[in-house]
Amino acid sequence: MKKIDILVVGGGGREHAIIKKLSESPRCGKLYAAPGNAGIAKLAECLPVAATDLDGIVAAAQELSVGCVFVAPDDPLALGLVDRLQAAGIRTFGPTAAAAEIEGSKVFAKGLMKKYGIPTAAYEVFCDPDLAIEYIDRTDKYPVVIKADGLALGKGASIAQNRAEAVDAINSIMREKAFGRSGDRVVVEEYLTGPELTVLAFTDGETVSPMVSAQDHKRVFDGDRGPNTGGMGAIAPSPHYTPELAERCMREIFMPTIAALAAEGRVFRGVIYFQMMITADGPKVIEYNARFGDPEAQVVLPLMKTDLLDVMDAAIDGKLRELQIEWDSRAAVCVCMASGGYPVKYEKGFPITGLDEAAGDDIFVYHAGTAEKDGQTVTAGGRVLGVTALGNNLEEAAARAYAGVAKIKFKGAHYRTDIGRNLK
Ligand code: AMP
Ligand code: GLY
Repeated sequence: MKKIDILVVGGGGREHAIIKKLSESPRCGKLYAAPGNAGIAKLAECLPVAATDLDGIVAAAQELSVGCVFVAPDDPLALGLVDRLQAAGIRTFGPTAAAAEIEGSKVFAKGLMKKYGIPTAAYEVFCDPDLAIEYIDRTDKYPVVIKADGLALGKGASIAQNRAEAVDAINSIMREKAFGRSGDRVVVEEYLTGPELTVLAFTDGETVSPMVSAQDHKRVFDGDRGPNTGGMGAIAPSPHYTPELAERCMREIFMPTIAALAAEGRVFRGVIYFQMMITADGPKVIEYNARFGDPEAQVVLPLMKTDLLDVMDAAIDGKLRELQIEWDSRAAVCVCMASGGYPVKYEKGFPITGLDEAAGDDIFVYHAGTAEKDGQTVTAGGRVLGVTALGNNLEEAAARAYAGVAKIKFKGAHYRTDIGRNLK
């Protein structure tokens, strides 16, 4: 069998989960990561190249003659890394910049949904903060949702409960440029209610192959309190995602989105992320991502039974229709362990103990922000680790994940204690 060397771009928990899965493929040759982290380094050679260093990544892929590159994070996708690699004749898994704009610009995503009748919250777009405030005064309906147009580390959306909060959000995004150019335009959106869930899907631009559903936990503290983070934990599957709902999402959201992108000349190949709210009127799109979510990848990938490399090949070659992707029917829970003070201000460089003791049968310790220092694994980011466990149901998976978490120690460690428990 011909083995394929693979370069994975990125260096967080999501990339560790991707690399772990790829390492299980009988066709997987040597693995590389750019830049990787201390956990990834056990499975792949880590290259000192940033994920957004497009020239550096293309040069490394050429020098190492890898058979395939997997671009995982949002920034290099938006910057056109996939286009650059493909232009250099390198086989690549991930959407082009034009297709990834579905995540990179909320204005584009909302416009696409409006044009093709895909259910989402009603909205208006503004380039001028005064006009946005005037509109909010005219509609006078709270809460109201205000979002920066571009990428904002998952922190670009504000739910304003009253006029003062709405004005603050608009000023911070548009005048103070809290997210830079991402705030040149804002989307002012209707507030939706209902359970929220995510479905990730592989697509070759025509066929959509959904993965098991998942739910993220974005707020930093138990009970969904405190500021938004990149995600403090995830579960799969979502108890709200019934087979009837899955069928409806496929018909009303997944297929129409992929067809719409193709019709616009932006054929999407890779992983697409549908974040949805299940409202009284049915499922509506909250946002799209053009990639695996993090930590969602850390619960979905351990449940995938099919070889990830086979799926990547089918998506790249437009042959997903021919591939039946198999899923474990068990549940998965991932608890993220973060640095004290995250997501605001935190210190790094603290030694981590208990990593080997925590891992076990169907318990994985994915590294998010870690580094190696003097032969020791130390903290190196806001989110440090994702401890994932499988179980026959969410309760069992959560109990096993928390048993793993209890064995891991580092100074200031904090994590939510309600992931997979008290589900709403
Ligand atoms: P986003 O950055 O678009 O993922 O939004 C962050 C969070 O804000 C989402 O996970 C939702 O919980 C919430 N949110 C976003 N849009 C809406 C909306 N239209 N109505 C209610 N909540 C929303
Ligand atoms: N967990 C949300 C994201 O990856 O965007």
